[in-house]
Amino acid sequence: MSKNRKLLPPRSGTLEREILIKLALNSWSPPRNTQFLVYNRISLNLEQGSKKNFSTKIKKINNNNLTSNRKALNSNNKKKVKNIFQIISSYLDISKLYFIPINIFEKSSLIIFFILAILFIAAVIFILISNVDLSNYYSIWSILPPLFMVYLRMWEKNAREFKELCIKGIYMISNLALLSLILALFVYLASNYLFYDIWVQLPFIKSFYISKNILGFCLSIKIVISIIEIIYYHWKEPKILCNKLYKLLSSLIVLAFFYQAIYVICGAILIICDDIELMEFKLEIKLKNSSKYQSELKVKSIDKPAGPARPEDLSSHASQGDDKSLNHHFYKDYPKIVKAKGKYLYTDKGRGIFDACSGAAVASIGYGNQDVIDAMHIKNMSGTHYLASSFWKDNDVLKLQKSLADSTDGLLDKVYLTGSGSDATEAAIKLACQYYYDQDSETQRKYIISRDHSYHGNTLGALSISEFPSRQAPYKGILMSNVGYVSSCNPYRQQLDGESVEDFVAKKADEFEKKILEIGREKVMAFIAEPVSGAALGCVKAVPGYFKAMKNICEKYDILFIADEIMCGLGRTGNYHAWKDSGVVPDILILGKGLGAGYFPVAAILVSPKVWGELKSEQFIHGLTFDAVPTGATVALKVQQIIKDKDLVANVKKVGDYLGKTLKAKLSNHKNVGDIRGEGFFWGVEFVEDKITKKPFDSKLGVSRLIVDCAKSPKFNMTFYPGSGTVDGVNGDHIIIAPPFMTTEEDADHIVEVILTVIEIVFNEINK
Ligand SMILES: Cc1ncc(COP(=O)(O)O)c(C=O)c1O
Repeated sequence: MSKNRKLLPPRSGTLEREILIKLALNSWSPPRNTQFLVYNRISLNLEQGSKKNFSTKIKKINNNNLTSNRKALNSNNKKKVKNIFQIISSYLDISKLYFIPINIFEKSSLIIFFILAILFIAAVIFILISNVDLSNYYSIWSILPPLFMVYLRMWEKNAREFKELCIKGIYMISNLALLSLILALFVYLASNYLFYDIWVQLPFIKSFYISKNILGFCLSIKIVISIIEIIYYHWKEPKILCNKLYKLLSSLIVLAFFYQAIYVICGAILIICDDIELMEFKLEIKLKNSSKYQSELKVKSIDKPAGPARPEDLSSHASQGDDKSLNHHFYKDYPKIVKAKGKYLYTDKGRGIFDACSGAAVASIGYGNQDVIDAMHIKNMSGTHYLASSFWKDNDVLKLQKSLADSTDGLLDKVYLTGSGSDATEAAIKLACQYYYDQDSETQRKYIISRDHSYHGNTLGALSISEFPSRQAPYKGILMSNVGYVSSCNPYRQQLDGESVEDFVAKKADEFEKKILEIGREKVMAFIAEPVSGAALGCVKAVPGYFKAMKNICEKYDILFIADEIMCGLGRTGNYHAWKDSGVVPDILILGKGLGAGYFPVAAILVSPKVWGELKSEQFIHGLTFDAVPTGATVALKVQQIIKDKDLVANVKKVGDYLGKTLKAKLSNHKNVGDIRGEGFFWGVEFVEDKITKKPFDSKLGVSRLIVDCAKSPKFNMTFYPGSGTVDGVNGDHIIIAPPFMTTEEDADHIVEVILTVIEIVFNEINK
């Protein structure tokens, strides 16, 4: 103890009480300076020659209480202390961790120093590239307090050895970097592999939640007390102030670590128990009239999974206040997604939802792929994110066009890039039109033949050739009239008992030919069809030989065949191009959705030499501002490269076969499951009221919506693509299962289990 030390003036006769309080407060974690302070006070009293009895008393307190407190802590520690707070407090003094005694000139110390320094750099790099939400990195923020502490110590006038302090500072940072690295690795593994479902979800079990709060509450009180101590006792004593601040900050770090650890433990236990569900979690510290620590938790015990929202309930979800969206249904509430990674979407309520339909069959490589994000970033940084496609060339645009053309073995060797599926369909219609116009400006070929139960887009042209009554109804009268329809190829509903595939195909071909002749053979310019029907029919694949027969008729009447693979293309069916399975090459192929996999809106039409070779204008007379956007091309290139490098189409084929078999094995016998069809990761399940007659449910029930709502509920956390009008454009229900391409067999089992349970719940309610 320094003789020169300035002593605090005695405080108005309350010294005894102050010190007693202080000793009591510090019994958790005796700060280094308590003893020092007590001695100071005692010597102060002695110097002043007054209150001798009191001083003796203080000495006694000091000798007995303080030292025995410490001894008790140490010995208790050795023989497993009973008092949990003592255990916690014995760890609170992180300074032991930071202030490792070191002799910098010892070789071993230097080696340790370099290892730690390298780990520190590795931690920083790891943090930069790992793309984990930094708010999870409590350990990173913990670097700041000791840094601040070093600063405070250097600022201290009477700091003994500046050099020693610097070395200690470096050690502090290195130690913390090591901790950060370990925690970062844990966070990464936890969020990606171990509990990727729960890391963001952060569910709690009530008891753990309470214990977390008790701990947090106790630590918070300790911090508040420390602040009072600092202000009250030490404001004139910089050195003690420094130590106090340091202790306070250390406590904060420990608090953060404890919180984080308990979050993860709770989540893990919840997963194991699997019977308590967090409906809503809110933790607030409110400062109103007085400081008030408030917490609120609504845990709902679920015996039975939540039932579907009935249509009549929907009005209670009316969007109000700040919701100005015209993109959503006005009176339905939608979960807000705040994060997405891989196959999961995470809501603002902390739920992780397995996206078993990749959005609208878009997110083929899942969400948050860092390689795609990086590629996009680099492209944007180059400043060439947008270039007017009719004025400039861009390397990535050219590369994407070439790679798409190559994927058809050059059979479709010109590529037009645009922004959405509907844009691409418009382009295909116009191109077909220009193909005939450029050959003969007087041509009458203006008709397109499409199929019943088809969907090719929502812009006026694309909607005109989509037989989708619910989407067309309001626009009747302004849709194109130069469209003819033939029936779709839906064996479940159309193939007669005992009818062979050949006869069935012949019937379809006959119908098509009759339609051409009805419209006028010189008037039809194109036939458009989805090789595997998507949204309108629910993954119906044409029977073998169907497209060959249709294409033969197209050739007979010089009609172009346009294949719309916006939904089923680019690997979704287990074939990179679905038409390859049908044995015919389209004249124009339309791609969208999975091309940019949702990372950027991008679509394309691929054109055969037969078509573009006839363009006497030497260009396609079309163009939108956002056609062939370079960043879109970069993204699409990367996405398709990832699909290729990871052999994802092979996975779609293999796991898709498994998914189909499992769906059929587990669902076929259900009395309300009419048909299960599809391939790869493109499966449709059609529901019926009567399995024998194939009678659909009343459309007012909104069966597919109910099923998807129920699957989306917190018990199941899974989403599918609902479809209605499957039978006649109005009646009929199906769901589409179209998970991301990296879906595993375990995921497939999970998907089937969820469907099975959900349809049990929904149909039990409906059939009541
Ligand atoms: C087969 C098909 N064609 C066209 C479209 C329209 O694409 P977009 O919504 O990108 O305009 C869709 C969209 O669902 C589709 O499934």
